[in-house]
Amino acid sequence: MKVLVVGSGAREHALVDGLLADDTVTEVVAAPGNAGIAARVRVAPVDVLDGAAVADLAVAEAADLVVIGPEAPLVAGVADAVRARGIACFGPSAQAAQLEGSKAFAKQVMAEAGVPTAMAHVCTTADEVGRALDQFGPPYVVKDDGLAAGKGVVVTEDRDAALAHAVACLARGGDARVVVEEFLDGPEVSLFAVTDGTTVVPLQPAQDFKRAGEGDTGPNTGGMGAYAPLPWAPADLVEQVTERVLQPMVDAMHRRDMPFAGLLYAGLALTSRGVRVVEFNARFGDPETQVVLANLRTPLGSLLMAAATGTLDRLPPLAWQSGYAVTVVIAASGYPESPRTGDVVSGLEEAAQEVGVDVFHAGTALRDDGEVVTSGGRLLSVTAHGDSLAHARQHAYAAVDLIRIEGSHHRRDIAQTAAEGGAR
Ligand code: AMP
Ligand code: GLY
Repeated sequence: MKVLVVGSGAREHALVDGLLADDTVTEVVAAPGNAGIAARVRVAPVDVLDGAAVADLAVAEAADLVVIGPEAPLVAGVADAVRARGIACFGPSAQAAQLEGSKAFAKQVMAEAGVPTAMAHVCTTADEVGRALDQFGPPYVVKDDGLAAGKGVVVTEDRDAALAHAVACLARGGDARVVVEEFLDGPEVSLFAVTDGTTVVPLQPAQDFKRAGEGDTGPNTGGMGAYAPLPWAPADLVEQVTERVLQPMVDAMHRRDMPFAGLLYAGLALTSRGVRVVEFNARFGDPETQVVLANLRTPLGSLLMAAATGTLDRLPPLAWQSGYAVTVVIAASGYPESPRTGDVVSGLEEAAQEVGVDVFHAGTALRDDGEVVTSGGRLLSVTAHGDSLAHARQHAYAAVDLIRIEGSHHRRDIAQTAAEGGAR
């Protein structure tokens, strides 16, 4: 089968590599891709938000399957446009992608499905926000209702800062809404499920490091590192979340006549009172995908095709490589506030030669003179497999230390607590 991968991040680079490793995949094309993806497969330029353009490209390439990486095209209906042309697509419809596109919608479906989540109020005025903040008390959690690339959430002890964030979101006008919710304590887990709208196939649980700074300090980012699986997680975690969260959500979407087929990503908090959903995403998480796919043995193309064609119930159980994977994200100078672009990236070849290491590209581009240069906020996702978390970390950081990018930064503590026997 021939596959078109849509997107340009490290997640898409990992998807491309995973697909290339599947014997049933004869060719992979990526659009628009990045410098790292272009070194692996042919890339084609495309506006990923333009459904007709993506569908035209899929037809022109005679793709058998289109895999859509990021959320924005899904929410914009790109998967619908591809399917309308008779091509199988891994990714939910625009309607179903509202589970990620609108936090208020997600809360509604969770309530219908009886899925445990934080208590929340959807607010449209500063007065409503103020009352909700006082009801829940500190720490305050305020979320922009719409897509915000991981940066729409403020968690703070400071009531004024919480209110200011809400007011800034509401100031956009139109149908701007914010969600104010109860603070959830306890370690966070990302659990992905591949689903065809009926059958749910959970992947390995992973943990993401969202804050820019070590010790979970600094602003929220798209994710600064991840590891999988979780040595500290309860043995029945995946089973429990599948039964109480993932399957009920898929069933509820089915009942609403907006089946969710693609990747359902549950962001969870394991609180003292049990598992609670923090958020849903409608696509593979970045950087968790890099570590989950590093451990997956089942051919990726067959898995995604089965989800896209409603045949997941016929797929054999997933196979996993033993051991652990760790990924460390190298970010540009100024990320997340104002990433600087145009810096030269060196040491890539040396890093890729480290044992068990894959260097996935995110914000990189090829300059006319052949140099790889920075072109975004998150630049590289340096991923390593090891028989223990400690070994996986060693390999990943050995590779990170060979890469040089002026002004770049990364966290040194990815998976450290877990490697030392804790849960972070
Ligand atoms: P979200 O965009 O909803 O994933 O939120 C981003 C991050 O903010 C999450 O990964 C959490 O670390 C934090 N967060 C979101 N909601 C809550 C909550 N109710 N309680 C505590 N932390 C939260
Ligand atoms: N790792 C967080 C996300 O993909 O949204």
